[in-house]
Amino acid sequence: MEQLQDIRNSVISCERCKLANTRRRAVPGEGIVSELMLVGEAPGSREDALGRPFVGSAGKFLNQLLTKAGLSRESVYITNLVKCRPPNNRDPEKEEIDACSPYLIAEINVIKPRIIVTLGSHSTAFFQKIAGLSQEPISRARGKTFEIAFEHGKVIIFPSYHPAAALYNPNLSKVMEEDFIRLSQLVNRSSSKTITIESFLDQNGSGNKG
Ligand code: URA
Ligand code: SF4
Repeated sequence: MEQLQDIRNSVISCERCKLANTRRRAVPGEGIVSELMLVGEAPGSREDALGRPFVGSAGKFLNQLLTKAGLSRESVYITNLVKCRPPNNRDPEKEEIDACSPYLIAEINVIKPRIIVTLGSHSTAFFQKIAGLSQEPISRARGKTFEIAFEHGKVIIFPSYHPAAALYNPNLSKVMEEDFIRLSQLVNRSSSKTITIESFLDQNGSGNKG
């Protein structure tokens, strides 16, 4: 898709904030035009080396969560709030989020998701602010969906933990697994399946058997 490629190209050569000075590679979002979009925080070391989102250990865990919930990495769009790695994986600063988030909004306008999962406190806080909600710890915010009206229509924001936080924490990973199961139910409910007379008859086992 041409618009997505334009965003990728802008990100790859971007110098809008000081993270451009320390990154190896900027990390644009990747995936397909999907009703489900996942938004992480910022690239880590492996992402920075490869120029791709969620390809390190947190990414592997995220893939497992998606698979367990009957969703797949190939069927979603994955991106980050900030596209370049903060040195030593420190938190992204306000100026960096302000400089980078227009790319995220541009991605949303192209992908037109119906559900956005925010992974961790930073991306959750970003959307809470847009929605005019007061910010709260991720332990309280997680699982509490809210809506934002974007250009293309209403989007359900679904906050969860960051997979890197849950990776070595059995309690958090269990909660994340539950979040993703609920998410898959939400995805299935929101997808508009067209019922044709043929699919209806097939489903009911009364198709024309000749
Ligand atoms: N953590 C993130 O927030 N994003 C990535 O792409 C990888 C790890
Ligand atoms: Fe540009 Fe975002 Fe990278 Fe900063 S973090 S240089 S705004 S792409």
